[in-house]
Amino acid sequence: MIIAIGSDHAGFSLKEVLKKHLEEKGYQVNDKGTHDTNSCHYPVYAKAVCQSVLSGESEMGILVCGTGIGMSIAANKMKGIRAAALSDCFTAEATRMHNNANVLCLGERTVGPGLACKLADIFLETGFQGGRHQTRLDMITEMENE
Ligand code: RB5
Repeated sequence: MIIAIGSDHAGFSLKEVLKKHLEEKGYQVNDKGTHDTNSCHYPVYAKAVCQSVLSGESEMGILVCGTGIGMSIAANKMKGIRAAALSDCFTAEATRMHNNANVLCLGERTVGPGLACKLADIFLETGFQGGRHQTRLDMITEMENE
C-alpha cells in the first residue's frame, strides 16, 4: 500500500518516526514534506497529501501537526477527503469501519511516538464495513456537490 505523509514544523519529528515505522512494515511512503522544523503553514502539506490521495497516487494519507486538528480542518475542505483527527485506538478502528476515513491526522504535541505508530497500524489495517455506513457517506458526498 502506498501512503502519502505530510506535516508542518510542529509535526515533523513524529512524521519522521511514522515514515520509518511504515517503511519498515513494507509500506511505500510518499513524503510530501515539510523536511525540517522551520516554521511553515500546515494547509500546504494537507493539500499536497490530499491531492496525492484524490489522484490515486497514494491510497491513504497521514498528516501530522501540533494537535492534528488544523490538518484535519484543512484536509476536510477537499472534496472526497474524509480526514479523522484522533488519539485513541477505538476511534482509529471505528473511523475506518464506519467513516471509510482516508486521511489520518495526528498531533505530535498530543500523542507519543509509540501510540502514534499503533494508531497508524490500526488505521491502515482496518477495512470499511459499507452497508448503512456507505448510505451516510453518500449523503456527505451529496453535501459536497450542493
Ligand atoms: C503550529 O504551532 C500549530 O498551530 C499547528 O501545528 C497545529 O497544531 C494547528 O492545528
